[in-house]
Amino acid sequence: MCGIVGYLGPNPAFPILIEGLQRLEYRGYDSAGIATLEEGCLLRVEKKKGKVVDLTNHIGEHAPTGTIGIGHTRWATHGPPNDVNSHPHLGGQGKIALIHNGIIENYEAIKELLTHRGHKLVSDTDTEVLAHFIEEVRISSGLDLPDAVRVALKEVVGAYAIVVLDQDHPDRLIAARKSSPLVIGVGSNNEFYVGSDATPIVAYTKNVVYLEDEEVATMHRSGELKIRTIGDVVITPEIHAIEMEIASLEKGGYEHFMLKEIFEQPRSIQDSIRGRVRLQTGEIHMSGIDDHWDVWNKAGRILIIGCGTSWHAGLVAEYLFESLARIPVEVEYASEFRYRNPIIRPDDVVIAISQSGETADTLAAIRLAKEQGAHVFGVCNVVGSSIARETHAGAYTHAGPEIGVASTKAFTAQVAVLSTMAIHLGHKLGRLEDKAFMRLISGLSNVPGLVDRVLSKAEPLLHVATVFASADNALYLGRGYQFPVALEGALKLKEISYIHAEGYPAAEMKHGPIALIDQDMPVIFIATHDEVYDKVVSNIQEVKARGGRIFSIVTEGDKKVRALSDHVFEVPKIHEALAPLLTAIPMQLLSYHIALLRGCNVDQPRNLAKSVTVE
Ligand code: M6R
Repeated sequence: MCGIVGYLGPNPAFPILIEGLQRLEYRGYDSAGIATLEEGCLLRVEKKKGKVVDLTNHIGEHAPTGTIGIGHTRWATHGPPNDVNSHPHLGGQGKIALIHNGIIENYEAIKELLTHRGHKLVSDTDTEVLAHFIEEVRISSGLDLPDAVRVALKEVVGAYAIVVLDQDHPDRLIAARKSSPLVIGVGSNNEFYVGSDATPIVAYTKNVVYLEDEEVATMHRSGELKIRTIGDVVITPEIHAIEMEIASLEKGGYEHFMLKEIFEQPRSIQDSIRGRVRLQTGEIHMSGIDDHWDVWNKAGRILIIGCGTSWHAGLVAEYLFESLARIPVEVEYASEFRYRNPIIRPDDVVIAISQSGETADTLAAIRLAKEQGAHVFGVCNVVGSSIARETHAGAYTHAGPEIGVASTKAFTAQVAVLSTMAIHLGHKLGRLEDKAFMRLISGLSNVPGLVDRVLSKAEPLLHVATVFASADNALYLGRGYQFPVALEGALKLKEISYIHAEGYPAAEMKHGPIALIDQDMPVIFIATHDEVYDKVVSNIQEVKARGGRIFSIVTEGDKKVRALSDHVFEVPKIHEALAPLLTAIPMQLLSYHIALLRGCNVDQPRNLAKSVTVE
């Protein structure tokens, strides 16, 4: 949801801003813009509807040369994507330029006040209102800009990460945040970098300061970094070292990030269990659980919250925790959980799942659960993210940066971590016998190799994609552990290929969706060898009898389902609790190929953004 970048230092800001915007483009690609201070303290603003490449084409050869600047890539909330609504926005006198990620909820009231005072706003955005408001506060109070920002933000309701450039002070950059992420990179040469996350920063420095809610930072060309809360409390900046490598942000020879991330899964799954699952000694170590054993030991119920793909991983976890650890589980969309006055019992443990660690709904649900006394465990990918920092304990998924908007390796890493947790809890609580435990950890250790095998023989999926690429609808069906994978398969297809797709528990089909089946309807079954295999075979027969076009994901050597299906794809035999880690792979690749055949932008599907930091 909007990407923010800033630079202050001895070098020209423009190349740093553009490279940063390209790295952050996954957060929104409705428009892009920059503001720099040029020679003679002239504020130069360039902005354009479309992608970063449209902005650079627009600027052409006349690149700005200033050594301080800000940049923004937009995911539109208030006002359609056009040049005028693009960021940066100027204050009324055109002296400050501001970029913003978030939503100012009371912008209409502030706008009314400003209009009464003669301000003329040109865009439909809440951001322009904030720029004018800060300037109004500065002029009417005579405060210096950092104080004016502080005072203005006290009146603001909503979420913001902002960076402000001041024409009168070419030596400083001001940044602030509340409920939207903001990271400050501290370079070695009195340089500062600002980013919505560390991706635009890591090429220059590994030293970062995570700004906390309601903090205002003033970066100065002298190298001084001052942080104060909007209530004027002085904060000592805490520098953290980030481990991200620049290569992990490149396509590495692949045509798309999504394809690269799909093929990274043998390694990302390995990284997610590395050090935790110790096959040789027959142990699992998870400090997020072990160090809080008093909480887990008496857990009466687990509540799992997340959104989108992370919610699907939560559904897989429901099967895992209930079956392996015998703890009752409820899984809920974070966005619903927070608004339905949930009952949280003293012995509930909440697991919040999020790749980005910044999803606004998940973050709000966590805060609600904490207020009500719950112990909250985070399963996050992005190190240092808000969710990782706000939960009591957790486990990183260690999947590495995921740039493609459609989540792939983050999903399997989440499922791998949740599987590890369920097996660990089951064993530690005495509900999983040693033999079953060993079988499961040995199975889990084999997963990376098996995923590699799936990927190495994935070519036939291209043929299936060719057959299904012209479909308008698709149905994904699975049961038990494979039901959430069916949901995830359908989500992957619709988000990147724009084909309408539904995921259903296979047995539910006859309660409604079966009416949709005709010879034009692709039906994708996950029919691996597990407890419900024979039931799924019956469901496949029901579809076949009605002429549906059947593609099935089956276990290697399967004969029954093969005989009933138009196309099959085999995955290796594995414990049914771990099978989602294999069956998810052909789902991802099928969507990828279909989207490509339909000419869609796989990495940046329309209307979407990677990190949903607004409600
Ligand atoms: O970063 P999070 O895991 O919290 O994000 C949640 C969803 O926005 C995300 O999974 C979304 O559904 C993906 N685009 C799915 O591919």
